[in-house]
Amino acid sequence: MLRTQTQPEPSMTEPSMSAWSPGSWRDFPAAQQPDWPDEAELERVLKVISGLPPLVFAGEARSLTSQLALAAEGKAFLLQAGDCAESFDALSANNIRDKLRVILQMAVVLTYSAGVPIVKVGRIAGQFAKPRSSPTESKGGSSLPSFRGHMVNDAPFTATARVADAARLLTAYHQSSATLNLLRSFATGGFADLNQVHSWNRSFVASSPSGRRYEEVASGIGSALRFMSACGINSADDPRLHTVDFYTSHEALILGYEEAMTRVDSLTGDQYGCSAHMLWVGERTRQLDGAHLEFLRGVKNPLGCKIGPGATPEDVLTICEKLNPERIPGRLTLISRMGAEKIADALPPLLRATRNSDHVVSWVCDPMHGNTFTSASSGRKTRHFEDICAEIDTFFRVHHHEGAPPGGIHVELTGDSVTECLGGSEDLGHEDLPMRYETACDPRLNGRQSLDLAFRVAELLRKEHCLA
Ligand code: PEP
Ligand code: CO
Repeated sequence: MLRTQTQPEPSMTEPSMSAWSPGSWRDFPAAQQPDWPDEAELERVLKVISGLPPLVFAGEARSLTSQLALAAEGKAFLLQAGDCAESFDALSANNIRDKLRVILQMAVVLTYSAGVPIVKVGRIAGQFAKPRSSPTESKGGSSLPSFRGHMVNDAPFTATARVADAARLLTAYHQSSATLNLLRSFATGGFADLNQVHSWNRSFVASSPSGRRYEEVASGIGSALRFMSACGINSADDPRLHTVDFYTSHEALILGYEEAMTRVDSLTGDQYGCSAHMLWVGERTRQLDGAHLEFLRGVKNPLGCKIGPGATPEDVLTICEKLNPERIPGRLTLISRMGAEKIADALPPLLRATRNSDHVVSWVCDPMHGNTFTSASSGRKTRHFEDICAEIDTFFRVHHHEGAPPGGIHVELTGDSVTECLGGSEDLGHEDLPMRYETACDPRLNGRQSLDLAFRVAELLRKEHCLA
């Protein structure tokens, strides 16, 4: 078994946690793990990774936990967004900047229109592994292992490309590191300064109806900043106006990698998954007795768990007990991904179960993964903007009915003008999909559709706060 560092003394007060170690998941069934052809090579690579610097600090993960605790109380709102799957081939400064930019634009719209602080978390700097509905893919009579994301294998339908290659884990680490490095610079080095709100509106977004509405928001913010300055409020030294807190997250799927990225925090002695600030477990890997919950229960990061329409109230409460036995506010975010048609029936009993328990969780809405279908004309996977909005709308209604604050949204998007999702203000149709269909996995909202969505959600949030 791979040991990444010396274990702290087991706590006498938490007997249920005493059996946990970064590698204890190995004693549990692990779903969705690649078939690594060379076990020795895999362990060699993981040993190298376990000696590399952490990508995030424990203190940053704790700050995110505190912010997510506010979201659970309705005092903040989570915007978790980014690619379905990051691609090794798409690592560039422009790409990272554009993704951050559209997330910042959305956050500004939400904050300005609804007056709620937005917790910004990217599906970025580590979102390289994908669970698949089938371990193999068949085409033209031949069958190959499925593409599992760039940290495992490659997308082309050839036998060589689909072999799981442990060296990719190391590439994933370095690519995450380069991405995070640039994100940190963008977040604190002037790009994210509120005085820059106008410049975040890229031309193809700016020319859309939402882009023009965004200009009004940006002008309003500009006036407010000038007003404060005229009143003698010196905002120049207040970092809150010039930098943003931007956090990273990904699905903790490949457990060998996550184990190798676990480090002991020297301040608290606690173990943190240092591959990202927030880690989540997917709908296909959240088995109650499985390896993924076993791994995640022991790291102190804020955690997410996807919850699909098949989950029962008992499942959800068992997950809460397992991942947050100490009931730490902000520790656990449940990510509802039901589909627009199912959410009205599926979510209420689950939300009620957590509300009636003594667990503190925030529910956020992933309106993407329950609304995917294949477009008959192009054979491409897609989602309709209106289904996405409909699911969020019902999510808000259910929360209002139950007297619970909606905690946030979790979406797949890119800053580019791709054509992967239907609808939005430019009304993309089936015939438009092949034009710029570039995703490495699921269809993403493009820059315009993302801003369209921000205005729709801002409207819901504003109503929610008026009603509260
Ligand atoms: C994802 O978030 O990309 C994903 C695969 O989600 P889910 O686990 O909800 O299907
Ligand atoms: Co996806």
